[in-house]
Formats: sequence, C-alpha cells, structure tokens
Amino acid sequence: MTLLSVQYLTKAFGGNEVVRGISFDVAAGEVVALIGPNGAGKTTCFNMLNGQIRPDSGMITLGGETITGWAPDRIWRFGVGRGFQIAATFGSMTVRDNVRTALLSRHRAVWRFFRPASDMFTAEAEALLDRVGLRGLAEQGCGTLAYGDLKRLELALAISNKPRLLLVDEPTAGMTPPDRRAVMDLLLGLAREGGCAVLFTEHDTDMVFRSADRILVMDKGELIAEGDAASIRANSRVRTAYLGDE
Ligand SMILES: Nc1ncnc2c1ncn2[C@@H]1O[C@H](COP(=O)(O)OP(=O)(O)OP(=O)(O)O)[C@@H](O)[C@H]1O
Ligand SMILES: [Mg+2]
Repeated sequence: MTLLSVQYLTKAFGGNEVVRGISFDVAAGEVVALIGPNGAGKTTCFNMLNGQIRPDSGMITLGGETITGWAPDRIWRFGVGRGFQIAATFGSMTVRDNVRTALLSRHRAVWRFFRPASDMFTAEAEALLDRVGLRGLAEQGCGTLAYGDLKRLELALAISNKPRLLLVDEPTAGMTPPDRRAVMDLLLGLAREGGCAVLFTEHDTDMVFRSADRILVMDKGELIAEGDAASIRANSRVRTAYLGDE
C-alpha cells in the first residue's frame, strides 16, 4: 500500500535547479534510503516533504491526501515525523522533561486545563525513552548528553506523535560505529514493530545496503536509480556517480 507518493518534485535556488522533477513512492512500513553524492539534493527533498521548503512544482501525497505546500506543523500533525534539533535553550531541561514537553505540545489543546504540567505524560515519556534506550538517562540534563544519546533523544521527539512516516536526514552522522549500528537498528525496529515507514539519508553505504528495503539514488537533482541493495551495487551509473569502482 502506497503511503507517500512524490511526483515531479522540482526546486530551484536562484535559477539553479537542485531537485529536478523527481518521482518516487514509499509504501506503509517500508524502510527506504535516499543516497547520492554531496549536493545531490537529498536534504532539499526532505525539506519539501516536511514543509520547510515549498516546491516550485510537483505533488506530494500522504495516505492519498495532497500535502504539497502545507505548513510544517500541519504536515507533522498529519503524521510525518522529523528529526528535531534539540534547542540550546532546552539544554538545562532533563531528558524526561524534554520528551514530556513535546508530548504536552502535541496534546496542548485538549489537556492543558486539567492537570499541572509537572506530572503529565510521565508514563508516555518513559515509554518513549525506553523505546530509544534512554530510560537510564531520564534525569540527566540534555546539555550534558553524549552526541549519540542526543541523537536518540531527537528520535524520541520525532516519534512522539506516532508518525506514519519518519524522515531522518543522516541519523548516524558523527557517531561511533557501534552507536551508528544501534541507532539504525532502532529505526528498523520502529518500522518493523511500529509499522512506521522510514525514509532516511545516509553516507555510510554499508549501513544502507544492510538496512534499507529499497534504495533511491540521486545525482545532480535527478533520481538515477532505484532498487534493492544488489541491483544498486551492480548499477554502473550509480558506481560512476557515487560508489566508485573498487
Ligand atoms: N537554501 C539554499 N539556497 C541556495 N542553495 C541551496 C540551498 N539549500 C541547498 N542549496 C544547494 O542545493 C544543492 C543541493 O543541496 P542539498 O543540501 O539538498 O544536498 P544533499 O544531497 O543533502 O547533500 P549532502 O549529502 O552534502 O547533505 C547544493 O548545491 C546546495 O548548495
Ligand atoms: Mg544533506
């Protein structure tokens, strides 16, 4: 079943077309990697999918609904999770409170009048922290977290609204190899157990080949290949543009 459908998506910056009419689908629960050289247009694609950038043309549908040009908050509420940057001002907040704040903002309209914020969503926050392996650090200030743990926290916030589609741009960048594997396994678990589709970018191709159900390859704003790990590895156009011939 198609969850996300992208058709002829195009974006130019100052006359420079960085995404050139790309089309692809993501099925419900599918794990799809978007790879390609630096500057290929991957992040620009993500920014259009989550509403941060308005496409010049093309169409994006999620669950059959056209979401092209919607504001980021509306797309988020409609079920597209995205990796959040943890705001510097929240650095003094504990890990648990940071997640609770995200949950609070999700439910704000319904719950704010009934209970003090301090004891709200504790159980739900604990469950999310469990999910990302941070329960032991719940009392710690966010400002003191190791980089890999900060990424886990970002993931907890990203899944706090139970997205149907999770967009993660280089989730393991800057991590040690064991952390990379752990975070990737976490993402795969969300898809396998939670039924959440995951679309991610990643420069570690071993990780991509090991993890993704399907791989999309971009180069210079165009989609140049699409397929499983074996077919992408063997694709001569991909080897020339990105993988290199060993
Ligand atoms: N806001 C912007 N204004 C002007 N040019 C931009 C803007 N954002 C991105 N670009 C340009 O668009 C092109 C695609 O950038 P993008 O960040 O989407 O690539 P990417 O595939 O994510 O690369 P990387 O692997 O390095 O993250 C690049 O040439 C970049 O310089
Ligand atoms: Mg990028």
